[in-house]
This record gives sequence, structure tokens and C-alpha cells, in this order.
Amino acid sequence: MSTTTSFPQLTASDVQHLNFSQTVGLVNEPNMCSGGASTIRAVLREIPGLGAGDRILEVGSNTGFSVLEMASATRCEVQGIDIEESSVRFSQQKAAALGLPNAHFSVGDGTKIAFPDEHFDMVFASNVTSFIPDRRRAIDEYYRVLKRFGVLAAVPIFYHRRPPERLLNEVEQAIGAPLPRFSRADWEGMYELPGSELFFSKEYEYLDLSPSQIDAYVATVLEQPCNDGMSEELKEASGRRLHYFYTLFNENLGYARYAIMLYRKSQPTAFPVLHASAPVAGTAVHR
Ligand SMILES: C[S@@+](CC[C@H](N)C(=O)[O-])C[C@H]1O[C@@H](n2cnc3c(N)ncnc32)[C@H](O)[C@@H]1O
Repeated sequence: MSTTTSFPQLTASDVQHLNFSQTVGLVNEPNMCSGGASTIRAVLREIPGLGAGDRILEVGSNTGFSVLEMASATRCEVQGIDIEESSVRFSQQKAAALGLPNAHFSVGDGTKIAFPDEHFDMVFASNVTSFIPDRRRAIDEYYRVLKRFGVLAAVPIFYHRRPPERLLNEVEQAIGAPLPRFSRADWEGMYELPGSELFFSKEYEYLDLSPSQIDAYVATVLEQPCNDGMSEELKEASGRRLHYFYTLFNENLGYARYAIMLYRKSQPTAFPVLHASAPVAGTAVHR
């Protein structure tokens, strides 16, 4: 993913050939996790002990959205790693502009995380593991750097209905990467390691967007002050490209859902429950 400075000589017709990540970099789209800040709040609510002195790692931090949210909502030291150097630079600029000294970003590979064993209290992996060909190795690394009793928070996107092949191919072209056809159960199985415990898992569906909602979002992205220096022609072409991607993703996400899955590394009590129970729908009270 690149920032504006990486595409200084682009013409409007070049923009029609950029993939989604490149377009995101060009116009500084926030590229948030599924559910945006409410996902971050939901994760943090389930791990109430996290606070000053604790360390969080996000793998695939992109342009920093989740790290900045977590750094502003907690007093933890929050580290983002991403394989794309330009995304990391852009994230660092955002952290400095926001005055968040506990948000840190470095270039890093999720399959070779440059931190010691048992270093982090939480590892956050949203929509990144599907982009890593050696997923097994990446997940082993997430657990390696996690402290005993620490939490791996995964927020994968999965298919709950099979989309047409034509749509899958078009999305793969748009994101410039192969798209795994995983179900929720596939992800749950992949993230669960011997000794880890899935203690929270909640599924969400994406709401369908109207063309005018997409138009309004595109306008919001383009009207950011950081895009003021862009020529009108380039802005218009970027807007058309973004509109195309969002419309395509809206169709694709009609077949998909996402889940917040929280795994504890090592169960404090690994004994089986004899009198198993299930929640009774509609009885929860949150005060
Ligand atoms: C779709 S974005 C995820 C953005 C955001 N964190 C989210 O969950 O929606 C995927 C990110 O993963 C990064 N990425 C891909 N392979 C990676 C790897 N091996 N290690 C670290 N980051 C990687 C990409 O550069 C990109 O920024």
C-alpha cells in the first residue's frame, strides 16, 4: 500500500489500472477493520484487564486505523507491523499528528515477527491472515509472541454462502491477491492450537449499501484535507475507481460475514465441564 507521495506522476488513465490497495494509498482511505472502531471496542470490552504496562501487537496494521484506536482507548503500548513500508511511514505520521506516543509502527512480516517469545498481552489479527500464503506459520508466530494467558484476537472475513465464481475472480483481481474460500469453522479450526481456548466468538453480517451511500463515502474520502493538492482530474478518476471497488465489495460481502474470535493462550483450568450449558437468547442485560 502506498501513500500519495508514491504516485506523484499518475495520470487519470493510470488510476483505472490501480488495485484496491494502491488506490487506498493514493487517496488516504482509512482502511479499517470490519466493523471499524466498534470492533475494537468490542474486543477491548472482552479483555477488561488490559491497561498501562501491557503490550498489544497488530499484524497487518496497514495505515494504522486499529492501532491508533487501541492506543487512544487504552494506556497500553500498541505496536503495528505491516509488510508495506509506505503504509508504516504513513501510520507513523498519523500517530505523531494525533499525539499518541504509545502507538508504534514498524515494517514486519507476520510469518517472522521480530519480537521475542511471550512479549505481548494481546495479538490482534484482523483481515490479514488471508493475505499470507503460509497461514500456519503466521498463526504459530502470533502464538509464539503472545504471553501465557494472553489473548489472540482474530477478526476474519468468511463466506457463509458461496458467491459466483465470476465475482470471486473479479474481487481477486481488485485486491491483487488470491481469496481464500473459508467458512467460519475453517477459521476457528485454523486459529485453535493445542492449549489455546476459544472463549468468545461472535458473528456479524454486512448491511447492504445503496449507490448513494457509496457516493457519500467516496466524497468523504476525497474531501480529506490531505487530498487538497490532488488535481481535479486525478480526484475524479480516483473517485470512479473507489466507487467501482466499493460496489464490487458490497456485492461480495453480501455472501460474507465476519467474526470476532478471541483465543486465550493456555487455559488456566483445562478440565472439561460436566454440566455443559448454552446461553438463553434475549436474556442478556448490560448495565
Ligand atoms: C486488508 S489489509 C488489513 C487492514 C486492516 N488491518 C484490517 O484488518 O482490515 C491487509 C494488510 O496486511 C498486510 N500484509 C500482507 N501480508 C503481510 C505479512 N506477511 N506480514 C504483515 N503484513 C502483511 C498488507 O500490507 C495490508 O496492509
